[in-house]
Amino acid sequence: MNERLTIPRPDDWHVHLRDEALLAAVLGDTARHFARAIVMPNLRPPVADTAAARAYRERILAALPEGLAFTPLMTAYLTDNTDPDDLVGGYRDGVLTAAKLYPAGATTNSDAGVTDISHIDAVLAAMADAGMPLLVHGEVVDGAIDIFDREAVFIEQVLAPLRARHPALRVVLEHITTAQAVDYVRSADPALLGATITPHHLAINRNAIFQGGIRPHMYCLPVAKREHHRQALVAAACSGDAHFFLGTDSAPHTVDNKESACGCAGIYNSPTALATYLAVFEQAGALDRFEAFASRNGPRFYGLPVNAATVTLERTEPTAADGVRHSAEGDICVFAPPLALHWQVVAA
Ligand code: DOR
Ligand code: ZN
Repeated sequence: MNERLTIPRPDDWHVHLRDEALLAAVLGDTARHFARAIVMPNLRPPVADTAAARAYRERILAALPEGLAFTPLMTAYLTDNTDPDDLVGGYRDGVLTAAKLYPAGATTNSDAGVTDISHIDAVLAAMADAGMPLLVHGEVVDGAIDIFDREAVFIEQVLAPLRARHPALRVVLEHITTAQAVDYVRSADPALLGATITPHHLAINRNAIFQGGIRPHMYCLPVAKREHHRQALVAAACSGDAHFFLGTDSAPHTVDNKESACGCAGIYNSPTALATYLAVFEQAGALDRFEAFASRNGPRFYGLPVNAATVTLERTEPTAADGVRHSAEGDICVFAPPLALHWQVVAA
């Protein structure tokens, strides 16, 4: 009998579902594996207010393949002009689960983001009052700062002062990539600060981006760091510590947009995410902590119930990552980690 693991259905606390043809191509991969997902708002134009989030949620539900139970949890994209009343109203009405801070220019579709944190101080104060979580893309955009240092510098120069100004604000530092982020998050009250960790940042270090040539499908932001940072992320995820939870940052781009002189940042991992996480946890001897990371820590932070439905995962012969997803806009390359993928969902 193969080894099996039955846990409450996991959620994905950070995903990019896009819109239209890409949404139709990728939504099933998320909904098959995850009961709920925090949906990122960096569309063009961004999902910047409650009405836009409500409309986007409708488009996601309309695109959902038949027979899949899935709840999208919506976010609003903060801009220099965000209206705190609309934002908090959307949160109180249950349309918005959180708001996302993209420093302008930090990543894909972030040009409408916040140009200076001081511009959103009133918004942050209103969010803290309401208990609405702030989700953070934690990288400075200063071209003088080395790209591999941008997360650590952001924590020091932006996040720590921001949290000192708004001590009651609940924050998720998204897709952490460094030992500094692990240490910073771990030192805070887990009710106030959490972090998502992606499958790719657990599975690769920065060498993977340059393995025998440039590998655009291993490029995302924040960019993968040195091996010791990857090891710190693995230790954090596999500890079961309540601060850390599953967030794939699955970010589909067409192959044309990735394999280009200026390729987009983003790794599409929804089909292989769970198997990748499980390979990492298995290698660390921590399969018994996977349930905390994948199914319990996220809901606890967001104040939501753990999913009542369960999923059974089974260790099988290694499976090949299934290469590409087709969409009307073009093919999307699926993340293939440098790990044997043994785990599969056998029953939901
Ligand atoms: O690699 C990334 N891709 N990082 C982000 O922050 C955004 C994302 C995307 O939307 O493609
Ligand atoms: Zn993201």
